[in-house]
Amino acid sequence: MSTVLGLARVGGRALGGALAYLVAWRAFSVPALAAVFVLVFSGPLFGLPGWLLVAVLGLVAVLAHADHGRGFSLDALVHNVGESMERTRRRHAATRLRRRWPAACRELGWDTAEGDPPPSSTGRSRESRRQRPRSPGLRHVEHLGDTLRIAWRPRGDTNPKQWREHAEALRRHLGGHSVRFAEDPREPGTILATIGLRALPVHDNAPGPVDGQAAAPTLASEPLAVHQAPTLAVELGQRAGGGVAVWRPSEVNGLLVVGATGGGKGGCLRYLASQCLAAGAVVHVIDPKGTGEHAWVTDHGGHLHRGLERQVEVLRVLADELRARCADLAALGAEKIGDLPPRLRPQPVVCVVDEAADLLTLRRVGTEKAADELRAEAGSLLTLLAQQGRAAWIHPVVALQRPDVQALGPAGGALRAQLVARVVAGSIDDDGCDQALGVGHREQLVHLTGHPGRALVARLAHADGAQPYPVQVRWLPVDALRPVGVRPAELVA
Ligand SMILES: Nc1ncnc2c1ncn2[C@@H]1O[C@H](COP(=O)(O)OP(=O)(O)OP(=O)(O)O)[C@@H](O)[C@H]1O
Ligand SMILES: [Mg+2]
Repeated sequence: MSTVLGLARVGGRALGGALAYLVAWRAFSVPALAAVFVLVFSGPLFGLPGWLLVAVLGLVAVLAHADHGRGFSLDALVHNVGESMERTRRRHAATRLRRRWPAACRELGWDTAEGDPPPSSTGRSRESRRQRPRSPGLRHVEHLGDTLRIAWRPRGDTNPKQWREHAEALRRHLGGHSVRFAEDPREPGTILATIGLRALPVHDNAPGPVDGQAAAPTLASEPLAVHQAPTLAVELGQRAGGGVAVWRPSEVNGLLVVGATGGGKGGCLRYLASQCLAAGAVVHVIDPKGTGEHAWVTDHGGHLHRGLERQVEVLRVLADELRARCADLAALGAEKIGDLPPRLRPQPVVCVVDEAADLLTLRRVGTEKAADELRAEAGSLLTLLAQQGRAAWIHPVVALQRPDVQALGPAGGALRAQLVARVVAGSIDDDGCDQALGVGHREQLVHLTGHPGRALVARLAHADGAQPYPVQVRWLPVDALRPVGVRPAELVA
């Protein structure tokens, strides 16, 4: 008996699945059913004319698919059929999720039956309510390429603070790699989540210079036409779930890059600085460590600064430039450089500070008194750039291992708060995670899998929101940035 019931259940499910697929495949199934209908009813009645009618309808259906607006072609037929199959796949995936929804809610513990039901005010017994578990209402499901958009209404007793947990739990349940969520603006109380289904690669080479010598150095002597001054959009790498993580300095001015030693901060800064230079920005690199790591910058028209006094002097010059640009904006009645006509825009400036703790942390010993004054000044100048640089297109990038306020000098708190865009490269401890990404994101540390270049990033652009997401930072080896014809062996010889 139980075998028969089991077989009936499996058969029912298979039939349900097949029917759902036929409904999703409506571009084929509706004309096919119509043809069967005509054949069954009009074929025997009208004989040959009935068959002819079916053939003509079939031909019209094929031609409708082969039309590309200015005639018919086989390519258009193949393209349109491919598109229609893709639409079918998406519809079917959405239907499958709708059917799985009650089971998913049960497994995630979201059914009302799981907790205590609210006290009955309708006269129905608590027992009868408990017997009929109710899932959170599914409002919308859409499957678009590598993303799944789902809107659902959580149970009334769900605290909105738990929404992030719910969105994460659903992502894991559905095997997604990233999730973004927000309250549906048209229906308050409904969560609208976008789940990315594409996994991150474990390594991702940067394009261009790596493939041969495509990106030869941009020489400093080549003047950049002023009207070419671009709005910077700096790519970091692929983001989990699909898409590319892009830092937009004109939206989110300062960038803070943190992570334990060897995590890939330097690699991230190199890829970022190389793009800024290629886009025509002025790049200053302040490198207190003083190794040859950033020496390539000068070959590409950037500026590398060593020695505390010189580094502070550069920050003073940038602060003066900032004030001058703000005064120009005031005279022109513009709020930010992006509002000026392109021919009046100055070049964007990016100031990269690697190992910022070396530059900014006060030593507080007698012998370092004078140097400490310079360090404190560097901190307040960087804070000024971070606070006001967005409108004037002067963008600081600060890298250090752990973003403790003390490590960033006397103005550390203000500086960290103003460096709004965040990258955690490689690994970091729980406290460092709170400092870098804000409280409540420690569970995201599981995404730092230890693959070189794996990072968690947050707020790189307005569209990002505060929710951190994993990224595989593109790898640009320093060899690819040496001037054409120069090989490391020749440098040593
Ligand atoms: N995006 C990346 N993709 C692949 N490998 C990477 C990437 N970034 C870094 N690595 C690897 O990790 C090594 C260490 O990286 P990097 O020097 O950038 O670390 P770091 O965070 O700057 O360390 P430190 O704090 O010691 O300066 C690199 O030599 C490289 O082999
Ligand atoms: Mg480094």
